[in-house]
Amino acid sequence: MSHLISPSILAADFANLQKEAEMLDKSSADWFHIDVMDGVFVPNISFGMPVIKAIRKFTKKPFDVHLMIVEPDKYIKDFKAAGTDILTVHYEACPHLHRTIQAIKAEGMKAGVSLNPHTNVNVLEDIIHELDLVLIMSVNPGFGGQSFIENTYTKIKKLKKLILETNSNAQIEIDGGVTTENARKLIDAGANVLVAGSFVFKSTHPTETIAQLKNV
Ligand code: DX5
Ligand code: ZN
Repeated sequence: MSHLISPSILAADFANLQKEAEMLDKSSADWFHIDVMDGVFVPNISFGMPVIKAIRKFTKKPFDVHLMIVEPDKYIKDFKAAGTDILTVHYEACPHLHRTIQAIKAEGMKAGVSLNPHTNVNVLEDIIHELDLVLIMSVNPGFGGQSFIENTYTKIKKLKKLILETNSNAQIEIDGGVTTENARKLIDAGANVLVAGSFVFKSTHPTETIAQLKNV
């Protein structure tokens, strides 16, 4: 299967979200990447369920929701109700990760776990077979437009090895500083899904930029 592109609406024009959602819907984007930040787990606040619900009306494409929040268990049902298809929580925010993953799946969503740049992929050894997705942060979470951390390639290869050894079906998603410059190298290292925020939305022709990322 060829790789998937999940543009991050964090970099979209929030005053024109309907237009931005319709653009993504018509583009070759596979998923919508939706970053939820609480100002506690990360030093920034983005948006929550009402915004997700509002854009759900404009597309049937899967919503790939990346929670950068503490205590995500409290809101799993709400994110499902808002229209989430894939719900990703941070390893660093979940002391009872196994329970959290079961709760996400019980709501009928796909379950993902995200790792901060300093978190070793080996921490997933005993949960990887339960996961649909692992999101490797290639920048420190909290803001768009940061530069890509090169150690990400090594992490992808390690994670790919772990996935193969355990017969896991988890997809590998990369988030932060993704461009057409590094996309091919990320895919060759083992990535299946690429998130791109500013590279897409700050470009002159976002639809074409998405197509370029899809065709690298
Ligand atoms: C960062 C978010 C990313 C962000 C990526 O905390 O998780 O999804 O939108 O933005 P770019 O592609 O601009 O690095
Ligand atoms: Zn994200």
